[in-house]
This record gives sequence, structure tokens and C-alpha cells, in this order.
Amino acid sequence: MFLGDLAHSLDPVTTVESQGKVVRIGVLGCGNVGAAFVRLVEQQSSTIELRTGIRLEVVSVAVRNMSRDRDVQLPEGHLTRDAHAVVSDPSIDLIVEVIGGIEPARELITAALAAGKPVVTANKELLANVGAELYAAADAAGVDLLFEAAVAGGIPVIRALRESLRGEPVSRVMGIINGTTNFILTKMTEEGADYSAALSEAQRLGFAERDPTADVEGFDAGAKAAILASIAFGAKVVAGDVYHEGISRVTAADIAVAKRLGYVIKLLGIAERDRETGEIAVRVHPAMVPNTHPLASVRESYNAVFIEGDAVGSLMFYGRGAGGNPTASAVLGDVIDAAVNLVKGTHGSIGSFAKAVIRPIDETSSEYLLSMEVADKPGVLHAVTGAFANNGVSIRAAEQEGIGADARLVFITHEAKESDLQATVRQLREMDVVKQVGGMLRVVGS
Ligand SMILES: NC(=O)c1ccc[n+]([C@@H]2O[C@H](COP(=O)([O-])OP(=O)(O)OC[C@H]3O[C@@H](n4cnc5c(N)ncnc54)[C@H](OP(=O)(O)O)[C@@H]3O)[C@@H](O)[C@H]2O)c1
Repeated sequence: MFLGDLAHSLDPVTTVESQGKVVRIGVLGCGNVGAAFVRLVEQQSSTIELRTGIRLEVVSVAVRNMSRDRDVQLPEGHLTRDAHAVVSDPSIDLIVEVIGGIEPARELITAALAAGKPVVTANKELLANVGAELYAAADAAGVDLLFEAAVAGGIPVIRALRESLRGEPVSRVMGIINGTTNFILTKMTEEGADYSAALSEAQRLGFAERDPTADVEGFDAGAKAAILASIAFGAKVVAGDVYHEGISRVTAADIAVAKRLGYVIKLLGIAERDRETGEIAVRVHPAMVPNTHPLASVRESYNAVFIEGDAVGSLMFYGRGAGGNPTASAVLGDVIDAAVNLVKGTHGSIGSFAKAVIRPIDETSSEYLLSMEVADKPGVLHAVTGAFANNGVSIRAAEQEGIGADARLVFITHEAKESDLQATVRQLREMDVVKQVGGMLRVVGS
């Protein structure tokens, strides 16, 4: 066959120069994601070779504990405790980092990039803290650093933002980007469970860690929101820029009020850019989402990311945001891209990131739901609504729950500034007629 005929008979990504090439992979970490990745490469390598002309071979896997049982077959001598030796081995072409955490992942990735090796990572914590430094190191070295799996596991949202939407003026990215909290909130909504019972069930079923803090207090979603904001807006947004509140204070009463009013409570990660000032606000908090919004139907441990752009309108990406296999699928997609680029002698650039001007939470705006227990006296409603008016917060809807000593007032505001709402809450707390100001929830997606 002539070379020209050969090129026509190959899959679009297969080129003559990639035919018969072997890309040797070093994997750092063999836990949930690492082991699933090794298994997936084993299963898919023939198909990948047929489509790309490149044979992927996992030749070394670094772990911490050599004697741990692993649900993966590795040839004799492939397992090592020395991750640094994997990175510096000149016969290894490409590194997959699935150890997690900041160190030693950061120094291992930096060393791999400096040695001219493309890196694929699933490490949200690392990228949310020092992503810009690593993207610059990859660009300087002229190699790929790919990280689809770091946000929303198996959902291809990073590639969509980096490639398909690169010409789109994205104004907002928001999503359910933590499966554990979505599972807990679904149990509370659909089964009337209280927070601690729903958390225990999530732990029993393996959806929540024994120490659930990173998930339930919003740290995990905060790291992912920072990465999404950086990629969507081309700005250096780090985990410390993200305002976060978790779900541990969401009560069965909050869920019931939301339900009665036609909403569902979700933990949302929201990244917004002001078109005029360019300011970026990134926050994670429980929010009341109208039942009619596409995010309201995302149940159990599923994730979804909703992107709004001026030209494209609204897009939603839905799927498994975690788990060994979905995450390994995203890692493998990146590995194939990086391997094809390596063989072609090219790489994709993430581009330079501008300094982000962060809008603090006090300066953001939202609609709010505020509920409170009040004394059963004449004039209470007038006094309470006066507190809203004094602070420039206008009320969209109000209702009274219960009567007499058990009366509870529930208000939904029009869009208001967070600082004005907080000032209203402070004023209400000082009033004799207000026994208790209960849940405050932001309303998103009306
Ligand atoms: N699990 C998910 O659903 C998911 C989803 C999206 C992204 N991610 C990200 O993927 C990464 C891996 O997560 P995972 O759930 O697979 O974690 P994991 O199950 O805890 O596995 C971590 C692996 O790293 C190894 N390791 C730790 N320190 C090491 C060191 N110094 N040198 C060599 N190996 C070391 C561990 O070795 P031993 O096995 O010997 O202990 C283990 O195999 C994290 O960045 C995580 O955020 C995970």
C-alpha cells in the first residue's frame, strides 16, 4: 500500500507517523482511579491502537504500600514504591498522576514536565491551589498537562470549555459538582430523612468518607469551582478565592419549605463573571433551585454542570462525577490525546491566565428565602417587613406558617445584595418580636 492510501484508511486521529508507535506510561498511584485506569488501558488498548495507531503500555505503577491487595493484574516488577524513579525513567514517555493531595504530587508533576513528559492528572486539590504554576510549566516545557478528571469525574466539561467553547463569552458556570452532598440532599428531599440519617446512609453505601468534612462543608466542590472558573474565564482563580458553605446546617424544615414552594435544595458551585467590570465571583453553598430548572432533576450521586454563554445560550453536562471507572475513563481520554500529540511532536496550550479580580460574597446578588419565628402580637408583620425595607431589600413573596406561638414567617426577596440581606438579618435578630431567624437560603435559577 502507498503511504497516501494508508493515511486514507486510518481513523481521523491516526497519522502515518503514529502507526506502530508505543507510548509507555508511568502511573503514580493505584487506588480507586489508578487501578481502574490500568484495567481500562488493558481492556481498550487494541481498540485504541486500531483508532490511533498508538499502543499504550502501562509499564510502571508507583504506590505507597507494596503489600496491599489490588484489584488489578500487573506483570512482575511493574509495581514500585519509588514514584520519583518512575518520573525520571528515560524509557517512560507519559505520566499519569492519581496520588492526590499537594505533595509529593506537585514535585512529581513538575519534574515530569521539566523532563518533557506529558502529564495527565485527576488532582483537583493540586490544580485548585497551584494550577496556574503547573500550566505555565507545561507550556514552558512544550508538553501537555491534561486534567479532565479533576472536575466532575467522567463528565467531559473541561474539554468542552477549553476547546468547544473557547470562543464563547461564558458568563456563568454552575453545577452540582459533589456527588456525596447530592446523594444526602436527595435522601432528605425524597425520603424526609434528617441530615445525620442521610449522611449515615451515604457512609454505609460508600458515597461518603468516614470523615465527610471535605464533601459536606463544600471544600471539594470549592476546589472544582475554582478550576471551572479558571478555565471558563481564563483567570487565575484559586481555592482560597471561593466562598463556601456546606450542607451540614440544612434542616428537614428547610427542605420542607423549599418543597412546598416548588423548589429543591442543591449544593451548587457557581462561577460568574460580570460582563462590565470583569469581576469574578465563585461560591459554593446550598441553594433553592426551582423544580423547573434542569439542575433540579439531578438526583442521587449524579453531577451536572450548567454553562451559560452569550452566544451559545444554556448547556448542561450530566453524568457520574466520581467513582473509579468514570474517572478513569476521563483520564484515559486525556492520555490518548496526550499520546497522539506526543507522537506528532505537538501539544495543546492552556494559554496564559489573567490575574482574577474577585468579587467578595458581600458584593454578590441573589434572591433569598428567609424564615423566622415571631411573637404572636399585632403589628409584627409591619415591624418585620420594615427591617427589609430599611436595608433596601424588597420582598417578592411572604407567607405565614402555623398560628399563635408557633407562627413562622417565610419571605422570598427580589434580587438583593448579600450585604443588604445580612444587614436585614442582623436587624431582625435585634427585634423583640422576632424569636429566631431560621434558615437563610439563596434562590438560584429562577
Ligand atoms: N475517587 C474518585 O472518585 C475520584 C474522582 C475524581 C478525581 N479523583 C482524584 O483522583 C486522585 C486519586 O483518587 P483515588 O480515589 O484513586 O485515591 P486513593 O484510592 O486514595 O489512591 C491513592 C493512591 O496513591 C498512592 N500513593 C499515595 N501516596 C503515594 C506516594 N507518595 N507515592 C506513590 N503512591 C502514593 C496510594 O498508594 P497505596 O495504594 O499503596 O496506599 C494509592 O494507590 C485524587 O487526586 C482524587 O481527588 C478521584
